[in-house]
Amino acid sequence: MKGIVLAGGTGSRLFPLTKITNKHLLPIYDKPMVYYPIQTLVDAGIRDIMIVTGGRNAGDFLRLLGNGKEFGLAHLNYAYQEGEGGIAEALAQAEHFADGQPICVILGDNLIEGSIRPAVEDFAAQREGARILLKEVPDAARFGVAEIEGDRIVSIEEKPREPKSKYAVTGIYMYDATVFEKIRELAPSGRGELEITDVNNAYIREGAMTFSYLEGWWTDAGTFESLLRASNLVARARQAQPAEAVAR
Ligand code: DAU
Repeated sequence: MKGIVLAGGTGSRLFPLTKITNKHLLPIYDKPMVYYPIQTLVDAGIRDIMIVTGGRNAGDFLRLLGNGKEFGLAHLNYAYQEGEGGIAEALAQAEHFADGQPICVILGDNLIEGSIRPAVEDFAAQREGARILLKEVPDAARFGVAEIEGDRIVSIEEKPREPKSKYAVTGIYMYDATVFEKIRELAPSGRGELEITDVNNAYIREGAMTFSYLEGWWTDAGTFESLLRASNLVARARQAQPAEAVAR
């Protein structure tokens, strides 16, 4: 499976921190934000990874990450999103890289405590359709929210005023090759973006969406509160690690 980290967008909710740099280059405790989603993919056994970014700081990603040596990778791939037309538009830039293979997509501002390896293995066995990861949260209205009936997701609503469940759709998505056709059929949402939630609802309508619950903590880092929370969660996790693991 190939991995794609989406690290474009304006980061406007973090202004002025994002006035002169890209959100995903900001620090989370002791590393730039983008390190965490890359590590999540690597830890799941994914070695062929593309970073999609945009804006004025795209070159900084190349200088920071190079060929991915720090992650034990032989190479990294890069694509450029012109403008900030949404998560699905950013993903469309990776079609050539995906080359018809299944993909695991992670948003560049999503951090997790645990591993997505079990979900990635389940998706590899599933062979087609899509798989998303859900997490129970106290503030579901900030996210895409899954409406669940029995063992099925029947719909996802993007930032609903009245969430139909406590389950946020995390920014970790697994798709078969039909995802790019589905993106081509999207129309921009009220906020003028091609929404990943619309892509996921297309899979739900086809009866081709499965899901897992994510173990351990999960956070985004796109607001001042969540940026601080992410640093605190990572700091606490580091302190809990045995000394030899930290030295590595
Ligand atoms: O964090 C999970 C949530 O992420 C989901 O629950 C929502 O369903 C999903 O829409 C998304 O919500 P946000 O409003 O938080 O997404 P945001 O606009 O902050 O973008 C998240 C990441 O996606 C960002 O860190 C980089 C990437 N992105 C975003 C846009 C708008 C791009 O690469 N290009 C873009 O144009």
